[in-house]
Amino acid sequence: MEWNDLITNHVSVRAFENKKLPEEIKNQLIKAAQSGSSSNFLQAYSIIEVTDQQSLKRIEEISNCKGYIEETGAFYVFVADLYRHQTLLNQAGQSDEHLTTIESFVVSVVDTTIAAQNLAISAEAMDLGICYIGGIRNDLFTITELLQLPTLTYPLFGLSVGYPKIKNEVKPRLPQAEILSQNTYQLPNKELLKSYDQTMTDYYTARTTNQQTADWQSKILSYFSEPKRPETAEFLKKQGFNF
Ligand SMILES: Cc1cc2nc3c(=O)[nH]c(=O)nc-3n(C[C@H](O)[C@H](O)[C@H](O)COP(=O)(O)O)c2cc1C
Repeated sequence: MEWNDLITNHVSVRAFENKKLPEEIKNQLIKAAQSGSSSNFLQAYSIIEVTDQQSLKRIEEISNCKGYIEETGAFYVFVADLYRHQTLLNQAGQSDEHLTTIESFVVSVVDTTIAAQNLAISAEAMDLGICYIGGIRNDLFTITELLQLPTLTYPLFGLSVGYPKIKNEVKPRLPQAEILSQNTYQLPNKELLKSYDQTMTDYYTARTTNQQTADWQSKILSYFSEPKRPETAEFLKKQGFNF
């Protein structure tokens, strides 16, 4: 498949063959993850491959992703990680005050995301399927205990990678003209969003699995109708961040 087709044909996979990935493939995936750009070359992330069956079971329950964490080729947790840097600063007797800021946190989240997406693309290039699992943040405190995460770390998301059993149709994205502008910011375009709603309604009613009557805007309203993980601020404070 052409590279561009590979990228534009992406779909999240939520049903995998119960078959583990060989070591060689896993090594390639991690190499791809590590090859991404990194802000100031901080490489501010760690990847934890979870293989312990009990832990996978617990993570699957927390994430509310039944069937696609325990039963997959490999499951990784991507951790935004400034602990390595904190250790270095501590060893050098240097203050870590500039490490605990929101800017450093953003840098680590971006580095982690780039690594994960590199891994994801590399997996899809090998005909594997992937699904990001932000659901691990449904219980940050338990995940942190389970994975024994130290200070200045944040479990950003999991990533299931495996041999796809079922693949959904590609989900249509917002019209390019809605997200792309020249030189200055473009305010949301009502007409474009309305036509996109129709596209999404058609997609949701026609797709093979999990059909539903919905459009994009109604889903956004529903998503933001309640607080999302309000304990995150408290969690980050406990992890030693200072913002
Ligand atoms: C950071 C992140 C977290 C996600 N968390 C979950 C999750 O917990 N469970 C899940 O089923 N899908 C999860 N997804 C997948 C999205 O629902 C999916 O990417 C989106 O609906 C677009 O569909 P597509 O990937 O098939 O194109 C996550 C995606 C991202 C980027």
